[in-house]
Amino acid sequence: MIFPSTLIETMQTAQHIVISTGAGISAESGIPTFRQAQTGLWAQYNPEELATPQAFRRNPKLVWDWYAWRRGLVQSAKPNAGHTTIAQLEQFAPKLTLITQNVDNLHQEAGSQNVVELHGNLRRCKCSQCDHITTEWGAGTPPVCPTCGAFLRPDVVWFGEPLPAQAINHALEVSQTCDLFFSIGTSTLIYPAAHLPVLALQSGATAVEINPNETPLTRYVDFALTGSAGEILPALYQTLQR
Ligand code: OAD
Repeated sequence: MIFPSTLIETMQTAQHIVISTGAGISAESGIPTFRQAQTGLWAQYNPEELATPQAFRRNPKLVWDWYAWRRGLVQSAKPNAGHTTIAQLEQFAPKLTLITQNVDNLHQEAGSQNVVELHGNLRRCKCSQCDHITTEWGAGTPPVCPTCGAFLRPDVVWFGEPLPAQAINHALEVSQTCDLFFSIGTSTLIYPAAHLPVLALQSGATAVEINPNETPLTRYVDFALTGSAGEILPALYQTLQR
């Protein structure tokens, strides 16, 4: 794979790289997207009607069981070469911030450390009433909060809920101050994540997209690399090493 020399030079001299990822980075780990995942018993349910605070209030057991099943799908998946290369890039660059919309924890499993989770993480639960957050919980469906006794719920952002304030504020800040921004495996349709590359471009950063398909961002970026993240990222990293 041949990359433009201006891209390689920009990567070699960048002081702060921001990488924003979506479901596409996990595609090669076999993780189905929200909608693709609806098979078997769950095919009769619309995910947009399960991933809401109203659904959880109405039928906490149903929503808990659905997430337990989704967590099972993710737990058997392994990070792919795209995740691993991003973790390597974090060691290579003076500063790298990774912003992800994914809740599958695969970036962390690949070794990425500076991760901003915009939509939460399936490996954590939080209390539906108080501010208790945990990575361990009991066997109830749903289990209850050890602090206040209310139901625990997955620590992910549901439809109609705001993004975690600290995460989105940090993402907005780094997107405006980085010198190189990568948008990888995201359809760039869901706001506010879709606004991050726009802010980076407006602030003068070089923007790169890695995606096999065109998105609303494609025509604005400095470099649009067409293909899968699991192939392009390792090739790019190899070129950097030369
Ligand atoms: P989408 O499923 O909307 O888009 C996935 C993107 O990845 C598409 O643009 C694909 O072309 C691209 N893609 C597919 N395979 C790829 C590969 N091997 N390498 C690189 N790119 C690839 O996912 P997101 O943009 O992440 O929200 O969707 C954002 C949010 O919408 C999700 O986090 C979820 C959903 O509603 C919540 O759960 C709150």
